[in-house]
Amino acid sequence: MSGPSSYEPKTAFERWLDVRLPIIRMANDTALDFPTPKNLNYWWTFGGILAVCLVIQIASGVVLAMHYVPNAGLAFDSVEHIMRDVKHGWMIRFIHANGASMFFLAVYIHMARGLYYGSYKAPREVLWILGCVIYLLMMATAFMGYVLPWGQMSYYGAVVITNLFSAFDGVIPGLGTYITTLLWGGFSVDNPTLNRFFSLHYLLPFMIAGVVGLHIWALHVPGNNNPTGVDVKSKSDTVPFHPYYTVKDGFAIVLFFIPFAWFVFFAPEALGHADNYVKANPLATPAHIVPEWYFLPFYAILRSIPDKLMGVLAMFGAIAMLFAVPWLDRSPVRSMRYRPTARWFFAIFIVATIILGWCGGQLPDDVILPIGKSETGAPTGFTVVWLSRILAAYYFAYFGILWFLKNEKTLPVPETISAPVLAEKV
Ligand code: HEM
Repeated sequence: MSGPSSYEPKTAFERWLDVRLPIIRMANDTALDFPTPKNLNYWWTFGGILAVCLVIQIASGVVLAMHYVPNAGLAFDSVEHIMRDVKHGWMIRFIHANGASMFFLAVYIHMARGLYYGSYKAPREVLWILGCVIYLLMMATAFMGYVLPWGQMSYYGAVVITNLFSAFDGVIPGLGTYITTLLWGGFSVDNPTLNRFFSLHYLLPFMIAGVVGLHIWALHVPGNNNPTGVDVKSKSDTVPFHPYYTVKDGFAIVLFFIPFAWFVFFAPEALGHADNYVKANPLATPAHIVPEWYFLPFYAILRSIPDKLMGVLAMFGAIAMLFAVPWLDRSPVRSMRYRPTARWFFAIFIVATIILGWCGGQLPDDVILPIGKSETGAPTGFTVVWLSRILAAYYFAYFGILWFLKNEKTLPVPETISAPVLAEKV
């Protein structure tokens, strides 16, 4: 923890416990008295929001697992049973399904905040990398969870994504086949696949909880970054976490629940796919297989490259870039508030990623800008796949641009956190 402990046991019991298991001291130093920069804005509330999302997913998931049956012949019907027969089952399922989307929305905001304010820079590299590990675990968990209802999209999503690993046959002959067979537990997506996905889908959130513990620990050693990116210089730059940020985070969590509840109660299927209400049928491939919205940018990167192995490498590479960002960005200034050039490239990066997501939801050969007509009369022109290629190239280029912006001309960086806070008041 940063700084000496400020805890003083008040009762005889607290004194007794403190020399045996200083758990109240730890809670006090990390969640009550923890000195927190006084200028944190609302983007800093998303860490707390994410913690609440994780708890909601685990709690609702545990209840769903009481009624769900991980068997290829029974899974689909057991989900219908939850929806129709189990008391409030529909609500628990919609909380869990929409909760996954809200969780990803919050994590993307949390990551973008980190990228903008340079929270990944020294001494917070380990904190950032642990965040990237959490993100990978979240993606694996969400992917496997989506397979469980055993609808058409569940089944074919599993087929498409697990088959990607067969591309590694191009690296070492037999390696890809070995991995896919291991994932499937057989020679196709089937009952053993569903069983292991269920087991891992139950396990991984607890691993996420463990890594979140490390993430918070790694946060509490250097302490929070802040919108100026300037280090805490004195006690006057900080306020105690409680009540200042417990109240602010609490308020943000309540606000976050409003759109969450709206989705659950008014548009519970808006983010889902109608095909997943059709039972999995290995003999009828849907016309258009799409993953959930939060995977779409990576799906677009995958499809933008005609070669399967290169597409898979590009998709994993897009995530790997995040791990490397603390070393790719060499600017001595943390916050993009004072980096006018980097800020523009960052804004384009966010827009490019969102449009990539849109591309991932379209058919690759759909024409966006018609130029002419083919012999059959179908429009020809600039297609979704070409837009994906340009945006994917920018996605990767962004990290190179950060590298080259080492000596960017920055705006004057304040001496202390307090300087701009007090300047606003006069
Ligand atoms: C279950 C998912 C996650 C939870 C529960 C979580 C929780 C938190 C909490 C409570 C904080 C402190 C408050 C705040 O700064 O918002 C924090 C800070 C941070 N998190 Fe996460 N986090 C998660 C995922 C991630 C991911 C995926 C990344 C990046 C890839 C990340 C990167 C960071 C960074 C860099 C900070 C320091 C922020 C700063 O002080 O500027 N986190 N996280």
